[in-house]
Amino acid sequence: MTTKSLWLALAIAAAAPAPALAADPAKPLAADEYRLLPGALLGKRLFEDTTLSEPGGLSCASCHDPATAFRGNNHSTIPAVAAGSRPGVFGDRKVPSLMYMSYSPPFAFLPWPNDVTGEMEITPRGGQFWDGRALVLDDQVQGPLLNPREMNNPTKQAVVEKVRAGAYANLARDVFGEDVFDAPDVFDKLASAIASYEATPRFKLFSSRFDDWLEGRTILSDQEYRGFQAFIDKSKGNCLSCHDGGNPNEAYEGAPAPPATRDPNAPLSRNPKDWFFTDFTYDVLGAPRNMAIADNADPARFDLGLCKRPGIKDVAPENFDIDSLCGAFKTPGLRNVAASGPYLHNGVFASLRDVVAFYFTRDTNPERWYPKGADGAVLKFDDLPARYRDNVNTKQVPYDRHPGEAPRADDADIDDIVAFLKTLTDAPFVEAAAGRH
Ligand code: HEC
Ligand code: HEC
Repeated sequence: MTTKSLWLALAIAAAAPAPALAADPAKPLAADEYRLLPGALLGKRLFEDTTLSEPGGLSCASCHDPATAFRGNNHSTIPAVAAGSRPGVFGDRKVPSLMYMSYSPPFAFLPWPNDVTGEMEITPRGGQFWDGRALVLDDQVQGPLLNPREMNNPTKQAVVEKVRAGAYANLARDVFGEDVFDAPDVFDKLASAIASYEATPRFKLFSSRFDDWLEGRTILSDQEYRGFQAFIDKSKGNCLSCHDGGNPNEAYEGAPAPPATRDPNAPLSRNPKDWFFTDFTYDVLGAPRNMAIADNADPARFDLGLCKRPGIKDVAPENFDIDSLCGAFKTPGLRNVAASGPYLHNGVFASLRDVVAFYFTRDTNPERWYPKGADGAVLKFDDLPARYRDNVNTKQVPYDRHPGEAPRADDADIDDIVAFLKTLTDAPFVEAAAGRH
């Protein structure tokens, strides 16, 4: 823009009438806003507001990009982690997609069948973030806004003042009342608007080829179907034991129906809502350390996940072995996974095929994934301190193998599973996902 046209633009902006309500003339409704209820519209405006970071320039959408299944990294020079609002400041975990996140039940310890023995045991489940530290979506919002590595606001009040002075303040008054900015719970109200936006249908499209197949509108290719079979096969991928449907609605509406009470011989559901590809539980996978994360230059620094969730001791049952949760991260849903790399909580794998291959060869060929120490020995599970390495799940198919044994799947099976995972991409993200591979 030339200086002259800049001045012209400023003059027009100055002449524009004061912003008012949803039909804010300074920012008319975008094409994707017409059918949003006022609360969700407010949530969207907050979600996309780049003045809400310190310094400005960064919005939720900078990291959770609507064009790529609400994930991205704010043009970070380190692909595994997002760039924050200040130059040279980066996150330390992978940005998850926000698609289908509103289905995650609130964080709780509750009886859940053990994947290996089938016995019911008290298990942590649900919540938001890789370590479940936010109970539900509303509760999650303050995280990024106040996190110095992300939007870096000093206080909740600082955020509220920006909204009060901003372009859609009247919309907030319209939704929550004239006095909203003086209400003691104004921040929570704004957070609930973001959460209601995150629960709108654009975050739950069910428009993948897999959904079409479930509902009989298309067929999978031979390779995709073989991949699906390997994925569900209890002696091959066994992926459903964690990446299953997850009974998403139960926790909000009373007692859960634990999977043990489901008929194991029942035919697979054709209902897309039974396929979130996560049961929202946690597991210790033993991801290799990602040296691209600057903090990892310190050999004493470890991201221990769930056992360090703030306040975990207060919500865990008495005598629960919290240390057994060190290294555990939330099982991510696999919808849109092909559009959601890099992978695992520390973004250590750039390619989807590597994640799948890791599952099968972590224990048969650990030298493929972990570095070697000075004595030449493979440093297995190098992203955990030695005392927690026993927490890694080595009992369950597919990672119950030992060096010398055959992996539970060969290269062709792995290609098939990857082909199947690519059918889980919702229609608007197919092109973006294809560009990734
Ligand atoms: C600088 C990048 C960045 C910005 C900006 C950002 N996020 Fe995130 N978001 C992340 C990262 C990284 C995580 C995972 C962090 C963790 O688990 O510890 C995350 C996690 C989440 C989750 C949890 C998803 C899950 O799988 O449990 C939600 C929901 C979310 N963000 C919403 C938001 C909202 C709403 C905003 C704006 C108020 C926002 N984010 C701004 C990077 C960002
Ligand atoms: C015992 C539970 C369990 C089983 C079985 C399991 N997963 Fe996972 N999966 C997880 C957990 C937990 C994570 C996150 C681990 C982390 O980030 O440290 C994960 C992460 C992933 C990711 C990365 C997703 C992302 O967004 O970063 C993919 C892909 C994946 N799993 C695919 C599979 C496939 C394919 C199978 C079957 C071969 C499988 N999983 C079996 C628990 C499991």
